[in-house]
Amino acid sequence: MRAGRNRWRPGAGACRNVGMTTVTPPLVLEPVLADDEGALREWFELAAAAQAHDVPAGPPPCWVAHRTQLSVPWPGEETSAWLARSDGALVGVVELTLPTLDNLDTALGQIVVAPEHRRRGIGRHLLAHLTDQARAAGRVRLIGEAHAPLDGPGSGGPFAAAAGAREALLDVRRRLALPVDEALLDRLEAEARARAADYELEQWTGDTPPQWRAEIARLTARMSTDAPLGELAWQPEHHDAQRVAGRDAMCRARGYRMTLTAARHGDRLVGFSEIAVTTSYPQHASQWDTIVDPDHRGHRLGMLLKVANLRLAQEQHPEMRTVDTYNAASNSYMIAINEAMGFRPLDRLGEWQLELG
Ligand SMILES: CC(C)(COP(=O)(O)OP(=O)(O)OC[C@H]1O[C@@H](n2cnc3c(N)ncnc32)[C@H](O)[C@@H]1OP(=O)(O)O)[C@@H](O)C(=O)NCCC(=O)NCCS
Repeated sequence: MRAGRNRWRPGAGACRNVGMTTVTPPLVLEPVLADDEGALREWFELAAAAQAHDVPAGPPPCWVAHRTQLSVPWPGEETSAWLARSDGALVGVVELTLPTLDNLDTALGQIVVAPEHRRRGIGRHLLAHLTDQARAAGRVRLIGEAHAPLDGPGSGGPFAAAAGAREALLDVRRRLALPVDEALLDRLEAEARARAADYELEQWTGDTPPQWRAEIARLTARMSTDAPLGELAWQPEHHDAQRVAGRDAMCRARGYRMTLTAARHGDRLVGFSEIAVTTSYPQHASQWDTIVDPDHRGHRLGMLLKVANLRLAQEQHPEMRTVDTYNAASNSYMIAINEAMGFRPLDRLGEWQLELG
C-alpha cells in the first residue's frame, strides 16, 4: 500500500459495464473508456474543481497522472469509471477499483459530486451503482476514503455514515514545509546513525534496480500487515519482483518521479522509504511507503531512512516546497519520527467500510 493508503488508487482495464444506466432523477452514467481523452479530461476537471472545494490545501491533481488512470494499471488492480450527467451537464464521477491479486472479496470506490450539485441525492444514486457493480464482481465490502478538515466533519464522512458505512481507520495528513533546518537534519541523522552502525544505505531514483526487486516486494508486502489497519478488513497483499517491476512501469507512465532510500544489512534490504513527485506539481511531494523489517527495528532506521531520502529528493527536485504524509492516527512510532522532522497535522482522511450483505 502507498503511504496515505489511497486504496481506491486508480488502476486500469477496459470498463466492464459498457451499457448506459439511467436513474432517477434523470441521471445518465457513461462508462469512461481508457483511450477517451475527452472523457478523461472532463473527469479531471470535475475532480480538480471538487478538490479545490473540499481539500483546498491541495495539491491539485496532476493531468499527466490522471490521463493514464485507466490505460496503465497499478499492478494487481482494475479500475472502471463512469461520468454522471444530468440534462447533459457533468454532475459527478464514480470509480470502482477491484484488487485482482489479493483482497478478492473487497472493492474500492470513490464518488465525487460537483460542489454545485450536492445534497440532491446524486451521491446516493452513484453509491447504488457502485454497490451493484461491486456485488456483480463478487465483492462483499466496499472501502472508500473521505477527507475532512482537522476541526470539522467534511462531506464524505457524513455521506458515508448516512449510507451505513463505518469509519474503520482514521489517517491524519501531516505536511512538512521545506527547507528543513540543516542543523536539525544533521542532528537527527547523527542520533540515528549512532544506533544503526551495522547498516548501509542504498539509494536510487526511478526504477528499482533489478537485483533489489524481490527485496522491495518482500518489504512492500509488510506494509499491508504491519501498518495499523484499525478495523479495516484488509488482507495481506501479495507482492513479488514482477509486481514491483509493474509498479515501476506504472510510475513511469504516470509521470511519478520516485526517490527511494533503503537500509541494507549484508545482502538483504531491511527497510525503505520513498517519496513521489508528480510531473505537474514538483513543488509538492508525497511520502509513500516507509517500512522497517521487524527483525531490524529499534535501530532508528525509520529516522535514518526518512532523513536521507528527504535529502536525496531535495537534491533531485530543488523546487520542492512541501512534503505530505498520511499516518494512521494510532501509528505513534511513525508520527514521532515525522513530528521530530517538523511535519505538522493538516487534515484527516477517513477510510470508510461498507458491508454489502
Ligand atoms: C460525499 C458526496 C459524494 C455526497 O454527494 P451528494 O450528492 O451531495 O450526496 P446526497 O445528496 O446523495 O446525500 C445523501 C445523504 O448523505 C448525507 N450527506 C451528504 N453530504 C453531507 C454533508 N455535507 N453533511 C452532512 N451530511 C451529508 C445526508 O444524510 C444526505 O441525505 P439528505 O441530503 O437527505 O440529508 C459529495 O459531497 C462529494 O463529492 N464530496 C467530496 C468527495 C468525497 O468525499 N466522496 C465520498 C467518499 S466516501
